[in-house]
Amino acid sequence: MAEAMDGASIEKRKEIMEKLKSSLPDDLTKTQRKKQAKIMYKKLQMKEKSKLQKKKPKHTKRLTKTMSSSDASKVRVAIELGYSELMTEKDIRMLIKQCQRCYSENRHSVKPLQLYMTSLSGTVKEAMETLEGYDKWDVHFHEKKYLDVFEQKDIVFLAAESPNILTELSDDKVYVIGGLVDHNRYKGYCYNEAITAGINHAQLPLKEHVTLNSRSVLTINHVFEILLKYEEYQDWQKAMLQVIPQRKIKSSEKHDNQDNEPQPTDDNNCEASGNDGDNDGTTNSDFDSGRSMNVES
Ligand SMILES: C[S@@+](CC[C@H](N)C(=O)[O-])C[C@H]1O[C@@H](n2cnc3c(N)ncnc32)[C@H](O)[C@@H]1O
Repeated sequence: MAEAMDGASIEKRKEIMEKLKSSLPDDLTKTQRKKQAKIMYKKLQMKEKSKLQKKKPKHTKRLTKTMSSSDASKVRVAIELGYSELMTEKDIRMLIKQCQRCYSENRHSVKPLQLYMTSLSGTVKEAMETLEGYDKWDVHFHEKKYLDVFEQKDIVFLAAESPNILTELSDDKVYVIGGLVDHNRYKGYCYNEAITAGINHAQLPLKEHVTLNSRSVLTINHVFEILLKYEEYQDWQKAMLQVIPQRKIKSSEKHDNQDNEPQPTDDNNCEASGNDGDNDGTTNSDFDSGRSMNVES
């Protein structure tokens, strides 16, 4: 693409071209000389460009924190992975990517949550094993189901269908997210499970803080990231506006948030679940960088 040149740049270019022309053998015609000089000039420009690019500062590595650090939160969040029979192979791969995203975001948070992954066995474990080094993640892994890991009275199952609204996070509770990527095939599945098990349940206070253009069933990683940001800011709206893709939020609220931290783009966030075919990105190859992985729920 041609770049606009100011007067000084044109003069400079002329000067360089003249020098280049004069460096060429005398037996060339005027046209050959001009053509040759142009080629040399372009090569020079490319050299300069690559020099400048090399000088650009490399991406600084994001800070990482462990769950045992003194800044870490005591709040427990568990992703229950015991739904493999309800998912296709592709869904399970998506689930693993969303878990990877949760882990990555937790590691880079200023206040990591106590992240649990329960029912890690069978097909889901096999899929998880495709991620090299997952067993070294700073996550509390359990083969047992959440009901056998935590005291029943401490459990709050998060479910979009629950009539209860979550207002705050408590150090004494464990918030369970259903590790189910179902494209809305099993509406209310986890809510019904909570009812049957006789445990507490609650939905995120979405309607209280943002107006969504779409349904309020979010992906696993979005739910986790909202909890993570809430723990950091103690502000639901700020947390939600940072996590939920902008196109999902009514425009007036996007403006309200202009003074806040950087907005999520569709490039680095996962999608609200459902059959709408949406597909957002989270971490993939370098999961520590927290970027560019396609995830859907
Ligand atoms: C993609 S959803 C799974 C939807 C699935 N049909 C179900 O019944 O759970 C993954 C999980 O995220 C959590 N979740 C999604 N949206 C939520 C909301 N608005 N409030 C609370 N939890 C939510 C729930 O724990 C849910 O199981």
